[in-house]
Amino acid sequence: MNKRRISWLFLSFVIALMTGSLFLAEVGIPFSWARADVPTRTTPFPASLAPDQVCLTWSGDPATTQTVQWRTAPDVAEGAVEYRVKGRESTESIRVKADRSVIEDPLVVNDPVNHRFSAAMTGLAPATTYAYRVGDPAADRWSDWTEFTTAPADAGPFSFVYLGDAQMGFEEWSGLLRKARDHRPETAFFTVAGDLVNRGNDREDWDGFFQAAGGVFDHCPLVPAVGNHEYTREMNPRLYLELLTLPENGPEGYFPERIYSLRYRDALFVVLDANLPPAKQRPWLEQQLAGTDCTWKFAVFHQPIYSSAPRRDNPKLRKEWGSLFDKYHVDMVFQGHDHAYLRTYPMRAKKPVASPAKGTIYVVSNSGAKHYDQEPRDYTAVGFTNVATYQIIDIETEGGHKLTYRAYDAEGMLRDEVVIEKR
Ligand SMILES: [Fe+2]
Ligand SMILES: [Fe+2]
Repeated sequence: MNKRRISWLFLSFVIALMTGSLFLAEVGIPFSWARADVPTRTTPFPASLAPDQVCLTWSGDPATTQTVQWRTAPDVAEGAVEYRVKGRESTESIRVKADRSVIEDPLVVNDPVNHRFSAAMTGLAPATTYAYRVGDPAADRWSDWTEFTTAPADAGPFSFVYLGDAQMGFEEWSGLLRKARDHRPETAFFTVAGDLVNRGNDREDWDGFFQAAGGVFDHCPLVPAVGNHEYTREMNPRLYLELLTLPENGPEGYFPERIYSLRYRDALFVVLDANLPPAKQRPWLEQQLAGTDCTWKFAVFHQPIYSSAPRRDNPKLRKEWGSLFDKYHVDMVFQGHDHAYLRTYPMRAKKPVASPAKGTIYVVSNSGAKHYDQEPRDYTAVGFTNVATYQIIDIETEGGHKLTYRAYDAEGMLRDEVVIEKR
């Protein structure tokens, strides 16, 4: 190889490296050039023999299944969930053995290895409250009994809570989460639109998140979307995927558990990964929206279609997904990433329209302690910043179909409200 060729090869390598890092910066993923001197860390919440971080998710139908995950210290070799219909204490519980994975982070010096357990309860009766506990059957060491309620199999009223980025300031966030739970204790689930944590591949950050959510997600499922902060460094939301068991009903062979759909009563929820190329998810998204008979259609993902913050815009999302939300009339889109509150007018073909019957309402919100500036835009119906909020969505079915969406601040003060009615 002559000198000139070697120089060209070297130059190409440098350009490829720079382009790669610029791309990562563009999508909001910090790029680390070297990890050789990464400092060690400690977790304030090390695992023990007793199960903790007990968290419900769905990996199947909310009417007939319930998934639960938890962690222990590595001395606990096996895990299981026991469950029975609430109120039938005399009947024998069903026991399901959990899958175990080893979560290793040698940099967390006071707790480098955790065992993570995940178990799916299947064949459940719809609209039924179950009591359950998780633990180590060999040592007969269990969590307290707690409970969850399966979704009714038919159409009918229900409520859910939507939260934007939790990300940092988990102590305050814990208060806001509990406020939301106490405000609507019968909520069917909590959906969080990405950036659950700030450093997605640092386990102690997740320890803080689960500690803050203790006593909430153990009886009310978490329905998450993946944010850019879950992707930190390795372009792979490794811990997000290891810690949470989610539906694998997304695009065939394409990043399972990051893209999925759920049906709850008469509502379809499509969860997308806005970190990945939107065009690749479009055919599956179209299939979901075209194939549903649900009255209500919602989408949840992280980076917003209509941005709230200055100098941010996501035209590709608008082109690839927004056009489908128009075509199939998605009712509301729940997003995060811009760390402020924004509700758009009903939008169609990138323009405000007269009523929700004609367009889609897009919301950005923020549940954590990090706030960004906001720039008013021609699509802004309601916008403000420096306020963490939770959103309660109530769906009623008496005398038609009615959705009431309300945003509240951490004190429970009403900050925004919109109603959508269908005949
Ligand atoms: Fe964020
Ligand atoms: Fe983000």
